[in-house]
Amino acid sequence: MRPIIFDFPSPSTLGKEVRELLGGEEGKFLLRSFPDKESYFRIESNVTERNVIVNASLYHPNDWILNLLFLTDALRFQGAKRIVLLAPYLSYMRQDKVFQPGEALTSVTFANLLSRYFSYLVTVDPHLHRYHTLEDIYSIPTSVLKAAPLMTKWIKQNVESPLLIGPDEESLQWVKEVAGKFPYIVLKKVRYEDGHVEITWPEIGDLGTRVPVLIDDIISSGSTMLQAIRHLKDHGMSSPFCMAIHPVFSGNSYQELQNIGVKGIITCNSILHPSNQIDLAPLLTQALKSIMGK
Ligand code: R5P
Repeated sequence: MRPIIFDFPSPSTLGKEVRELLGGEEGKFLLRSFPDKESYFRIESNVTERNVIVNASLYHPNDWILNLLFLTDALRFQGAKRIVLLAPYLSYMRQDKVFQPGEALTSVTFANLLSRYFSYLVTVDPHLHRYHTLEDIYSIPTSVLKAAPLMTKWIKQNVESPLLIGPDEESLQWVKEVAGKFPYIVLKKVRYEDGHVEITWPEIGDLGTRVPVLIDDIISSGSTMLQAIRHLKDHGMSSPFCMAIHPVFSGNSYQELQNIGVKGIITCNSILHPSNQIDLAPLLTQALKSIMGK
């Protein structure tokens, strides 16, 4: 039987594309608020004994995580066989350590919660820094997909003579994979607080006239990219392309990046954003097909 796909919290272009590529059925539900702001939730599709995929971007999850749990509980109650969470952007991965006494290890709490409610997780390039794999904190089976080949393809098609630059040591894993045969360097970053980072430039020779392409997994406050761009300018390099997998773009960061002068800002559509130029739908569909076949 065809899998059934619920787009949560609302219909998305990525969800629609995956559903069409997969030949899946659209899952229908009713969600509304009572006058006291509590949720009313009802599944309107027949999910009994069906494989269910819930496509949820997990962007700004605090606003609606409870409703997501209502959905999965209702699915289970209606007899769904397996509930796969398709989360192209997996949030709450960056607090992977207690830095100051008393801090919540939110990555673990979030992972525990999702592992209790879902049977399987499919995601793209989660921020694995101090954790080496998702299994370190998730107790359900997971598929981690990589956007690197798609990013490499974009660079090959659009940038002549690129130099890939990772703005910090954490970005090394992504830059290296995207680079393939392209040259790359990685800068050093110290983060003092949200939105305040300092970047240092390694001792490197003449970079010639190569076109800089900054690569990171996430752009959030934009401070990492902005600082790196200032350094590029100080070193006489031309305006860069900025590429990221997950366009979180909090506050005015997208505008600020555009204002500082970049050749382009290119992201994957794990989160819907005007900078999306790399479509993850075929990659996600391929992974779902193989999971559904198991
Ligand atoms: C963490 O270091 C990540 O790889 C990114 O560099 C970071 O999340 C970017 O954050 P922001 O845009 O707030 O500097």
